[in-house]
Amino acid sequence: MLERLGFRRGRVVECIATTLGEHEPNAAPAGAYLLTPSTAVMKLHTRTRTFANLMQRGRVVLNITTDPLHFLRALVAKEELELGTTPSGMPYLRDALAYAELELLDVRTYTLRDELGESRVGVVRLRVEDIRVLAPPQGLSRGACAVVELAVELSRGRPPEERVLRVARRCLSAREMREVERLLRLARRT
Ligand SMILES: Cc1cc2nc3c(=O)[nH]c(=O)nc-3n(C[C@H](O)[C@H](O)[C@H](O)COP(=O)(O)O)c2cc1C
Repeated sequence: MLERLGFRRGRVVECIATTLGEHEPNAAPAGAYLLTPSTAVMKLHTRTRTFANLMQRGRVVLNITTDPLHFLRALVAKEELELGTTPSGMPYLRDALAYAELELLDVRTYTLRDELGESRVGVVRLRVEDIRVLAPPQGLSRGACAVVELAVELSRGRPPEERVLRVARRCLSAREMREVERLLRLARRT
């Protein structure tokens, strides 16, 4: 099932995870990987809203997208993402190519010690409840990969690397790049 969306054993798929809080929806970039054709694993910092919402509601939607702006917006301008509602009432990204809605099976937590210090991480096992394909596949751009890398650095509090920015400038359209720069400026202010 999940293989249809590009999940393979040993491969991390970067998604936009949408969840529902007490009242309001949330979107954030997050990786996920395949466990079996109908189960997946996410490793989430317990301080994220995504983790809290998932623990509270027991559900997450993994939105598949190749648009790198979705990753930047989900980090620094969540309100700019257009969300719809799945048949079960969960939020999903309207512009996604596809999404998988998953139900929480179980979670175990551990302490991660890395260059950012010490944090708690929840290893979450999930079962696929529904898969929807919304749009045709889109080609892979190095520019898109570069912007996803910039988003990862941003989420770790590090400034964008000049070499990665150069790849983005060379491989994205001028319009996309203007949008990337606007979102990076926004990130600097937050
Ligand atoms: C491409 C990408 C992948 C990410 N994957 C994860 C992940 O797997 N687990 C995690 O805890 N944070 C991950 N992050 C960082 C979170 O997106 C970030 O902490 C975010 O602010 C959490 O938002 P939230 O509090 O609204 O859930 C990732 C960031 C990016 C840009």
